[in-house]
Amino acid sequence: LQEIECRKDMRDIRILVTAGPTQEAIDPVRYITNHSTGKMGYALAKMAARRGAEVTLVSGQTALEQLQFVETVPVRSAADMYEAVTSRAAEQDIIIKAAAVADYRPKYVSGQKMKKQDGELVIELERTDDILAHLGENRREGQFLCGFAMETEKLLENSRKKLEKKHLDMIVANSLRVEGAGFGGDTNVVTIITKDGEISLGKMSKEETAMQILDRIVKIRAAGED
Ligand code: CTP
Ligand code: CA
Repeated sequence: LQEIECRKDMRDIRILVTAGPTQEAIDPVRYITNHSTGKMGYALAKMAARRGAEVTLVSGQTALEQLQFVETVPVRSAADMYEAVTSRAAEQDIIIKAAAVADYRPKYVSGQKMKKQDGELVIELERTDDILAHLGENRREGQFLCGFAMETEKLLENSRKKLEKKHLDMIVANSLRVEGAGFGGDTNVVTIITKDGEISLGKMSKEETAMQILDRIVKIRAAGED
């Protein structure tokens, strides 16, 4: 770790990381969310700051401690996150979208607490905007875009499709089906996918995973400058 402390190889780099789940309101007391705890995104923000980067963290609601040397922008819904990210995107050199963004939100949000009735309740959902796809289409020259993909089947195939469809430089593929990977835990098992190939990382802490992801990004950016 001491060696890492000294390696300020991301100085003068502006990086925006998103982390955590989004919350989509149903009424004033209820919302739809997912199992993301934000740990992977926070690890990326922390390690980037440690390497000297200027870090903005757009964070859904999490139980994690505020990071030092990181500008944190708290958000709740996918629409909040869209606004927070797109309004800050132009000045970023690197954007990493580790957040688990809701794909759907309730179409109508009740202003009052909904009272229960006999029988079933159907909540109509509408699509949210895809933040990463928007970033891919409106990318600044030289900006590096990294997404995360959470899959339960066809991990590499589905993740690579997302890389291409959203015009990304990198996607970090996460399987929910692997021991030591996925939501909540302190370890992860990921595959880093770029257009040139794939690197599978073994089970390691989310902080070490974050370091490996940042290493790859720094290397690819350096190669692009030659
Ligand atoms: N993402 C986003 N905005 C959304 C949905 C997803 O920016 N409205 C981003 C996530 O932050 C992640 C990447 O897109 O970096 C992939 O998310 P994922 O849920 O795995 O893929 P989707 O494209 O939403 O496809 P699906 O959920 O149908 O597999
Ligand atoms: Ca999704």
